[in-house]
Amino acid sequence: TPDITSICKDSCLGFKNAEGAIRSRKCCPPSLGKTIKDFVFPTDKKVRMRWPAHAGTKEQVGKYRAAIQAMRDLPDDHPHSFASQAKIHCAYCNGGYTQVDSGFPCNDIQVHNSWLFFPFHRWYLYFYERILGKLINDPDFALPFWKWDEPAGMPIPEMFVPETIDGKPNSLYDVYRNAKHIKDRIVDLDYYDEDKNIPDKQQVLCNLSTVYRDLVRNGGDTLSFFGGVYVAGDDPVENGAKSVGSVEAGCHTAVHLWVGDSKNPNHEDMGNFYSAGYDPAFYIHHSNVDRMWKLWKELSLSGHVDPTETDWLNASYVFYDENEDLVRVYNRDSVCLDMLKYNYIENSKEVFPWRNSRP
Ligand code: C2O
Repeated sequence: TPDITSICKDSCLGFKNAEGAIRSRKCCPPSLGKTIKDFVFPTDKKVRMRWPAHAGTKEQVGKYRAAIQAMRDLPDDHPHSFASQAKIHCAYCNGGYTQVDSGFPCNDIQVHNSWLFFPFHRWYLYFYERILGKLINDPDFALPFWKWDEPAGMPIPEMFVPETIDGKPNSLYDVYRNAKHIKDRIVDLDYYDEDKNIPDKQQVLCNLSTVYRDLVRNGGDTLSFFGGVYVAGDDPVENGAKSVGSVEAGCHTAVHLWVGDSKNPNHEDMGNFYSAGYDPAFYIHHSNVDRMWKLWKELSLSGHVDPTETDWLNASYVFYDENEDLVRVYNRDSVCLDMLKYNYIENSKEVFPWRNSRP
C-alpha cells in the first residue's frame, strides 16, 4: 500500500502578509507511517443532526467553538490539527496528489470542476465532524450549516463575526475575510467580483432565485448537477472548463469569493482552494453545499439521481479518521446519509423557500 505522503507534492501558491503571517504552500498530510485501511460504516447509536448556524442554541455554539479551539490547540503536525485539516483541501485541490495509483503519475488530482466535487467534500466533512466530536468527547457532535438558501440564514452567521469573546480569541474568527461583506452580512449567492449594492430585501429574492437556478433549472440531470465525468487519465484543467456542476459553479463558488479577502494576492482565505480550509466558515458553507445534494434528491424530480457509472462509484480518497487511522473511502459509500449517521435539521414549514423563485 503506498504511503499517501510519498505521492503528495506541494502546491505552488503561498501567502505572506505585512506581519509575516503565512498560509503555507506545503499541504501534504503528516506521515505517521500507517497503512491504509478500508472504510467501515459507523455504528453510532445516534444520528448526528447538523444544525442551522444562524439558529444555534447557546449550548450548540459553545460546543462548536470549544471543538474548533481544541483543534487549533493541537500541534500543527498532528493529523487532527487545524492546519492539517485545512491542508487536506490544498492537497486535493492544488495538485498535491498525482494519479499515481491509477497509473497516471503526471496528472494532478483535482476534486473540483467535475463529478468528484460532491462526494469528496462529503467525506472531508464527515471526518472533520467526527474529529471535532472526539476532541470534546461528544459522540453526538454535529456541525452547523450556513443555511444561505433561507432568508433568515443568509447573513454570515453571527458567531463567526467577533474577533474576541469575553476577552479570548473567537475560534471561529478568521482575519482573512472581506471586511466590507462581513459588515454588510447578507451573502450574494450570485457574486462574482462586483458588489450589487441593492437593498437587502432584493438581495434575498435574488438569492432564492439563484438557489432555484442551481438546483432546478441548471441541475436537471445527473451530470449537470454533479459535474461532468472525470476519470483516471483526464487532465483536470482541461476537463474543468467544460464540466463543472450547477451548484459548484453557482452558489458554491460565489460564497467562496464573497467571503475571501479580495485585497489578498489569491483572495485568501476562502477565495482560493489552497487556503479556503483555514477559514472555519469553509466547513459550514460546505455543510450546506452537501445539504444541497440531499435536497436535490428530495425534490423527486425525474433526472435527480446519483451517478451510477462504475468510474464514479469506485473513485476513492484517503483521510485520517477520528482515531488517526488512514482510511480509504469510495464515492459509492457516500450516497446514503442514514448509513453515515448524520443528517440535517430542517424547518418543516419551509423546506424549500426557493421552490417558487423561478428566475
Ligand atoms: Cu473544495 Cu468549496 O471547495
